[in-house]
Amino acid sequence: MSYPWQKLGLNADQQADSVLAAMTDDEKFAWLSGPMAIPLHKGEKIPAEAIGSAACYPSIPRLGIPAIQQSDASLGVSALGGVRPGDHATALPSSLALGAAFDPDLAETSGKLLGREAFCKGFNVQLAGGANLIREPRGGRNFEYISEDPLLTGIIAGHNVRGIQSQHVVSTVKHFALNAQETGRVVADSRLNEAALRESDLLAFELAIEIGQPGAVMPGYNLVNGEWASENAFLLSKVLKGDWQYPGWVMSDWGATHSATKAARAGLDVQSGSNLDECAWFDHPLREAVARGEIDGSYIDQMIHRILRSLFACGAIQHPAQRGTPLDYSWHQLMVQREAEQGIVLLKNAQQTLPLPPELSRLVVIGAHADQGVLAGGGSSAVTPQGCLQLEGVDFMGIQTPKVYHPSSPLAAIRRNSLAKKVDFVSGDSIEEALNTAQGCEAVIVFAQEWRSEALDAQGLDLDDHQNLLIEQLAAVHPKVIVVLQTGGAVTLPWLNKVSAVLEAWYPGSGGGEAIAGVLFGRTNPAGRLPITFPASEQQLPHPKQVDPSTTTSLPGVKVKGDIFQIDYNVEGADVGYRWFERQQQKPLFPFGFGLSYTQFSYDDLQLCQSSDTVTASLTLTNCGGRSGSEVIQLYIRPTSGRYPSRLAAFRKVFLAPGESQRVSLRLEPRVIAQWETTKQLWHIVAGEYDIFQATDAATPGLCGTLTINAQTFGYRVA
Ligand code: BGC
Repeated sequence: MSYPWQKLGLNADQQADSVLAAMTDDEKFAWLSGPMAIPLHKGEKIPAEAIGSAACYPSIPRLGIPAIQQSDASLGVSALGGVRPGDHATALPSSLALGAAFDPDLAETSGKLLGREAFCKGFNVQLAGGANLIREPRGGRNFEYISEDPLLTGIIAGHNVRGIQSQHVVSTVKHFALNAQETGRVVADSRLNEAALRESDLLAFELAIEIGQPGAVMPGYNLVNGEWASENAFLLSKVLKGDWQYPGWVMSDWGATHSATKAARAGLDVQSGSNLDECAWFDHPLREAVARGEIDGSYIDQMIHRILRSLFACGAIQHPAQRGTPLDYSWHQLMVQREAEQGIVLLKNAQQTLPLPPELSRLVVIGAHADQGVLAGGGSSAVTPQGCLQLEGVDFMGIQTPKVYHPSSPLAAIRRNSLAKKVDFVSGDSIEEALNTAQGCEAVIVFAQEWRSEALDAQGLDLDDHQNLLIEQLAAVHPKVIVVLQTGGAVTLPWLNKVSAVLEAWYPGSGGGEAIAGVLFGRTNPAGRLPITFPASEQQLPHPKQVDPSTTTSLPGVKVKGDIFQIDYNVEGADVGYRWFERQQQKPLFPFGFGLSYTQFSYDDLQLCQSSDTVTASLTLTNCGGRSGSEVIQLYIRPTSGRYPSRLAAFRKVFLAPGESQRVSLRLEPRVIAQWETTKQLWHIVAGEYDIFQATDAATPGLCGTLTINAQTFGYRVA
């Protein structure tokens, strides 16, 4: 049998129209709102065709259209609440680790793996693509986001989405926009002026959408400048669908729709998780709004067109997902191990403590269940691979999400990577036991952990007192203490001066244990760079104390919304993270972009030029150390007048053998050089002198040049 959309030569828009023309009103409305496809209460019904996941919209067999099966998220194909017993998945390293790798190709490969697993499990929409800027260092979901910088976030998220969609699986980008904290997330009103918004959070999404062309965009739970993101006409109609000419569909976050007419008019196409809302707004209320003439019937067709167009553009209809296709999980585990290795950041390495020589005879590994696995973040993105350790976590939308340790034991990997006769393990619960076991060991490897989860912000930036005391006391008696951090964001390290080495491994996923051991013993030369600033204390932040509205709940509480409260991001404006630190002339604990290597790199001969509207910088990078390794070339720009603080304008990861040199040329992103002029609604590169410098991190400039840049303005086509 053949369907009209199979006619040769049709593009995605024409294919969408051919299906749309044959759809009934009931079929259309069945796609515009739907419940969570996981039973939240005993006996609760989920859509008939649902595999069991975040959402499922019905198939239309007579038109050759499969059901729309949607699953979370960026870090693997999740099965919230164990909804599909026995269906396990590969856990990817946290998005922060992907950000730390500074590698668009890796981001794409990682997306391909995720898309492939989704496809083989029967999903054709992956709710991946976290592209929020990390504005709030205590944010509970920071591990699902890439960085504090718009260029890095946009490029990495975009390539990741491209990888997912190469597997005929639509990806979203989310949570559009300014959804920076979990505390009161459903009632938080993020305030930021338009120019700053365009230059920071929106720029990250703009780049991600340009590069990745995601089929869907998900607005956040929060409000932006007084309007819910899901019914925010400025965000959805003006910027996304107007300025950026975005052709895909906009689906709300789960339980984040607040109206029918207003939301539809503002640009929302689908109400997701409708059973978590006051009512199924996009069902009867929307039908009635059309009947009353409040919403033109053609609106409904445009919504459906957008969904179909994205599904066709990704090939999700032409190549329907094949549930039950076998997957080679051991191969995937190796791939995510490689990814984790690229994201690990070496923060300290006094007297070249690392890499550890393999011939040490006695080691001890302490803490963080390192005998069993590596930590993962919690919430809708949580993946639960076979054999993982599950401890008590949080209640999330009425579902228990456990604190998960992926079964990749660092202890086992350390034993495999060393020749030591004895590698002990102690839990770290008893400091005395840890101190006793450390005696006589040549090196002490302490694992410190900080668990973060959706729906729950970190309460401050400190590790818990017990872990800090444990490390402090070990460092007081042992000369070689190596700390391996597994955190969901920045933390403070009060014992930093007393320990020998520190690695940040983030949440490293299914191959995490082996990846960590690889760096400890030098099989891998660490090449990760911090995608976020590590503040010395909360006092340095634009918001030293998080807004903690006493009237709201910090848990998802979609039913307990509380009163709306404002968070004023105009304090830092577009100067998020390292830009804020530069503006305030504050020294962080570790700057954005920081990371050590087991080799050394030198830079020479920086040349800058502007030809027509492109600013390019070229330089020569040399590996002048004794080992092969990768360096992340970072180029920053700042008007010589100091009008705005430095911004990352280009980056490139380069792998070099010892003694090898490479001439590298980088194009600076024009929107990073420019400023947004709200009155004229365009980007403006102000003519004048700019300092353009290479730096090993945002606070350590290396080669520097000055370039006079011509004025330039550019905007968007009028919708
Ligand atoms: C999260 C989304 C997720 C959705 C579906 C929400 O709570 O904010 O990121 O995709 O749940 O599980």
